[in-house]
Parts: sequence; C-alpha cells; structure tokens
Amino acid sequence: MSSENSNVISDSSFWREYPERDVEFVRWYPCNVGKLSGQEMFATGQDDSKEFSFYIHVPFCNNVCICCPYNKFTTRSKILQEYLEALKLEITNYAKQDYVKNAKFVSGYFGGGTPTTLSAEQLEDLFQTLYRELNIAEDASITIETTPVDITEEKAKVFMKYGINRVSIGVQALDDVLLKRIGRNYSGDQAIATISMLKKIGIKHVCADLMWGLPGQTEEEWRDTLTGMIDLKLVDSFSLYQYTVLPSSPLYLRMERGIIPKCPDEKIQQEMYWESVEILHNAGFLSVSDIDFVSPHVLEIESEANYFTIPDTNGKVLISKTCAMTRHVAHTWYEGKPMLAIGSGAYGYLNHSMYLNEPDIREYIRKVKEETYSVVMGKYVTDQERMVRTMVLGIKLLRFYREDFRRMHGKDMMEVFADQINQMVEWGLLELTEEYVEVTFPKGWYYMENISKMFYSEENYGLPQPNATGTILLQLLK
Ligand SMILES: C[S@@+](CC[C@H](N)C(=O)[O-])C[C@H]1O[C@@H](n2cnc3c(N)ncnc32)[C@H](O)[C@@H]1O
Ligand code: SF4
Repeated sequence: MSSENSNVISDSSFWREYPERDVEFVRWYPCNVGKLSGQEMFATGQDDSKEFSFYIHVPFCNNVCICCPYNKFTTRSKILQEYLEALKLEITNYAKQDYVKNAKFVSGYFGGGTPTTLSAEQLEDLFQTLYRELNIAEDASITIETTPVDITEEKAKVFMKYGINRVSIGVQALDDVLLKRIGRNYSGDQAIATISMLKKIGIKHVCADLMWGLPGQTEEEWRDTLTGMIDLKLVDSFSLYQYTVLPSSPLYLRMERGIIPKCPDEKIQQEMYWESVEILHNAGFLSVSDIDFVSPHVLEIESEANYFTIPDTNGKVLISKTCAMTRHVAHTWYEGKPMLAIGSGAYGYLNHSMYLNEPDIREYIRKVKEETYSVVMGKYVTDQERMVRTMVLGIKLLRFYREDFRRMHGKDMMEVFADQINQMVEWGLLELTEEYVEVTFPKGWYYMENISKMFYSEENYGLPQPNATGTILLQLLK
C-alpha cells in the first residue's frame, strides 16, 4: 500500500493475513450470506432469547459529505415521509410476532445517515410507534446519531420525553479549515455549542465521533481537536475513526487533481492514533474497543450506582457488559443476542439468522407494504457458527471471559479454538489466562481485524464483510 494513499480503500483490501495488517472493519458475521426472506427467517423455529436490541436506519442527510461510505440519500428527496411510514409499518409488522412482542428491548440505536434529519414531529411520531409496539425496558440504553447542525432544542426535548439517553454526535474535527475541506457544514465552535446545549437540556450521555488522517491534517491539529474535546469535560465517550477515502468519491478526485492536500502518510497516521490512545488513557478514559473510549466521569457515576466494578485490567480496558452506557455493544457483539433491524439497508440478527434489509429505498417501501418484511439476504447461523460469531465479534471488545463463552455455548473456547488462539498467543497478538483471552496492547490492537478474522470458519475464509452493493448484486441475479 503506498504511503500517500493509505486512506484509500481499494477492492483488494478486505483480506490480509498476519503479518500484513488487515484494515477492513469487521462488524458482522457470518459473511457468506445468501438470499433470505423474512418468512424463511422465521420458518426455522424460534430461539428462546428474551432480551433484544433494535437498530433503526434512517438513510437521509441534509448535507451529503463528499466522502461518506454510508448508505444515505439527501433529504431533498421527497420520499422521507413515505419512508417514515414504512419504518412504522415495519415495526408494527414485527411486533405481531410473539417472538418480538414478548421480548424486552434493553438497548437500541438510531443510525444513518443522520436520523435527526427527521423533524421533531416526525421523530416523536416514530418514537410513539416504537414505544407502543415494543416492550422497551425503562433503563434501556438508546442512542441516536446526529451531526452538530441537525439537532435542535426541540428535538432534544423529544429525546428526553422518550428516554433516548445517548446522543452520538459526529464532530469529526474542531478545525474549521479541515471541516470545510471534507464537506462538513459547521464550525468547531458550533459543534461545541451543540454539545453544551444537549447537556443543558439533560441528555445523559453525549458521545463524539472524531476522524483522524484527514486531508492535510497535521499531528498538532489532531492533538488540538482531541485535547480540546477532552478539556470540555462534556463528552461521555469518543469513537475515533481513521478517515477512509473511497476511490470513486468526489474527494478522491479532488485529492488526485491536487485541489486539496492528500491525507497524511501512514507513519504519521499511526503516530496520530497511538498518541490519541495515550492521551485518552492518561486522561482516565478506558477502551471498550480499539476505537471507542469511555470517560472516567461515566465510570465514576456508574460504579457509584453499582452498575459495575472496574475489573482488574491493565487500566486500559472497560468490559462493555459491566457498563450501562455500553450495553448496546455488549448485547450485540459480546453476547450475540438478537437485534431487530428496521429500515432500508439495516442489518440485524433474529432467530439465529443474520439478515440484511432491502437497500433500495423505493423497493424497501414496497416490500414493507406488500410483503411484511424487507429482508432480502441473510444466513441461518448454526451452533458451530454461533461459537465462531462469538469470537469474531466478541474479541473486538478486547477481552473475552472464558466463563461467558462456557455459559453461552456449553464448552470452553479452547476446546473449539485452541489452534487459532495458541497461534495468536505465539505471535504476541493475544494473551490467554485461566479466566480470559485478551488482545495484547499495543501489538494486538494494531492487528485487531486480523485477530477477529482468524476465527472465521472455512466457509467464510477470505470473504469480505456483507455490504449493500453485494445485496444489490444478488437482487440483480435473482
Ligand atoms: C453515520 S455517521 C454519524 C452521524 C452523522 N451522519 C455525521 O456524519 O455526523 C458515523 C460516523 O462515521 C464516520 N465517518 C464518516 N465518513 C467517514 C469516512 N470517510 N472515513 C471514516 N469515518 C467516516 C464519522 O465519524 C461519522 O460520525
Ligand atoms: S452526515 Fe454523516 S452519514 Fe451523512 S453524508 Fe455526512 S458522514 Fe455520511
């Protein structure tokens, strides 16, 4: 990979073997999805899980950034209201199933796109349906994503009314030149003002996304953004994203033509990342994953409320299941429990099947109206693949307890994965104790995606993560 283009994701970048570093972000398993309908998904009998999470996808943005990898459309498109009606109908359709109706939802996530492009009335309309149809736990951790400009006091008050207690805000940077360069339509000061407003209204947790490796970004600029955000003492967790450039994006073309500077070279980007980890750990933040950091303030409040005791880690790792604020990731990745996915292009996990909803919005709306579910692809996950799934996703949260694995699968992880684990211990990527397996710091963190993929089964070996393009291709082949 050339140092100048280290942020450009090429088609061949999804499978690299140690000692080469894999950079494809693993978030789903299995990858060998095929055609699947909602009816087929429920035809395999029903699993006995009682605790669910939900994910609701709103693929619209008011300002479409010039290098965004997500499934989204501009809100100028007239179908926003039609889409909202389809979301509500899809929720209602699922709620007719006893399997969903009887479940308790312990966490939820509104993602996008930018879900807060919906107006306050539209959001309230959606929340009303959700709370009427699903049994949402009183203390559920529910997150909604926003940009700094698509959120108003009025909307924040609606969140408060419905128990949406975590707002994840895409700040990205505090430097106005950089923000403009990547097509964001606000200033650093505006982002800070929005965070203050959310806290003042009473939103319990405000979490900020930041991106490093932006075009022309210096190490100093990145450090200023991160320390500036930490010093605010208003942010409860940070997610740090390495900026990726899609080869077909307008931003890539501008970089190639020299209109805007290239991204910093790989060595500098690595320095940026490791320095930010050090800064955050020194400031008392703990890591939930290699890119997610929780503030000492949250840890203090939660331990006072007896939510958790900080486990005896090396002072770096937070065990997600022990913290109320990180319940969503613990539920979906660590515990591998069901996740009801609503919306076009959303991914979920129900009844031991991983599934993907129709990514084309118009077709999604038609399907929900005429066929109940919008599921188009997926895969039933066998007992064996469930164990693999536990390791592939669970290890991304840095430490996995053997006792938890035994509780979930009735055997020790070493009975199933001794070859992979021993090999990675030998390479210095994992540490194995009687109690747990943990990703080593810093070497294992650097090879995070390789480690996750080492657990893939033979059927999934070498496959890319499922994505919307793959879903569309499969639809065309029908
Ligand atoms: C769905 S967006 C979050 C909400 C909102 N749409 C926004 O952008 O503020 C999720 C996050 O993905 C990250 N992201 C967006 N474009 C990216 C890119 N090209 N490379 C890496 N991360 C990116 C940003 O940090 C963004 O906040
Ligand atoms: S606002 Fe967020 S989801 Fe929308 S285009 Fe920008 S980065 Fe992508």
